[in-house]
Amino acid sequence: MSGGEVHTVVVTGASRGIGHAIARRFLAEGWRVFTCARAEVPPECRRDPNWAHHVVADLADPAGAEAFVAEVTRLLGDSPLHALVNNAGVSPKTPYRERLGVLNGSIDGWKQVFELNFFAPLRLARGFGAALHRGRGSIVNITSIAGHYVHPFAGSAYSTSKAALSGLTREMAVEFAQLGVRVNAVAPGEIRTEMISAEYEALVPRIPLERMGTTDDVAGTVFRLCTDDFAYVTGTEVFVTGGQHLY
Ligand SMILES: NC(=O)c1ccc[n+]([C@@H]2O[C@H](COP(=O)([O-])OP(=O)(O)OC[C@H]3O[C@@H](n4cnc5c(N)ncnc54)[C@H](OP(=O)(O)O)[C@@H]3O)[C@@H](O)[C@H]2O)c1
Repeated sequence: MSGGEVHTVVVTGASRGIGHAIARRFLAEGWRVFTCARAEVPPECRRDPNWAHHVVADLADPAGAEAFVAEVTRLLGDSPLHALVNNAGVSPKTPYRERLGVLNGSIDGWKQVFELNFFAPLRLARGFGAALHRGRGSIVNITSIAGHYVHPFAGSAYSTSKAALSGLTREMAVEFAQLGVRVNAVAPGEIRTEMISAEYEALVPRIPLERMGTTDDVAGTVFRLCTDDFAYVTGTEVFVTGGQHLY
């Protein structure tokens, strides 16, 4: 990544939650931001001239992911891309609020989870590889503490998709090093968003820093990983958990 020029980032799942905070942090740092989600972004964000483009896309659909890559690539032209943040993810529940597990839920449901949480990051990394190479940029995959430890409220479809994404991050770090692109992961713990329900409050006593995380806690870590302060860091996973992963 070189100084002086305007930097550009692609953030998936930016209509709310962690992805929205990530997009806002990059905007606050003067970056040009391309985003996507199935919903539109709030109107105040559309007024920010650096929020270059928001694409309504369903990344759980391979055609939706390909269309998103094609549209941003067309808008980028020959310009470099400096960062890709694979944030969009789903932690599904059955209509009975059960987590999707080995003993319940449809296998097609599992495939949907893996399509968004695992294959979309792979498709986007591949699709934006050339632009990231031009920017000597970096990729951050948003994984989860649930990919490393059995989590009381996350189902096994979600947890294994995130474990797979952690593994993919290591593999990508080596493949993309040939392009001059760094690849890291950020594993949030309990972050206050719509993905979190009231039952999660019971987990706070198990968090050494004695609080849930904020979306800005995650956004700050993601942003810093994409800067030259981390120019020699690739293939690592940063736990943004308040120490919860230590138990
Ligand atoms: N919150 C936590 O405590 C926590 C902990 C560990 C890891 N994480 C991870 O952090 C990431 C963000 O979580 P969050 O809590 O911010 O989730 P969230 O509040 O549910 O937001 C998810 C974002 O992804 C978008 N999205 C969902 N499905 C999509 C699809 N098929 N195609 C395109 N965009 C889609 C959503 O927008 P639309 O609905 O409009 O599409 C939304 O912008 C996820 O990868 C999650 O697994 C979160």
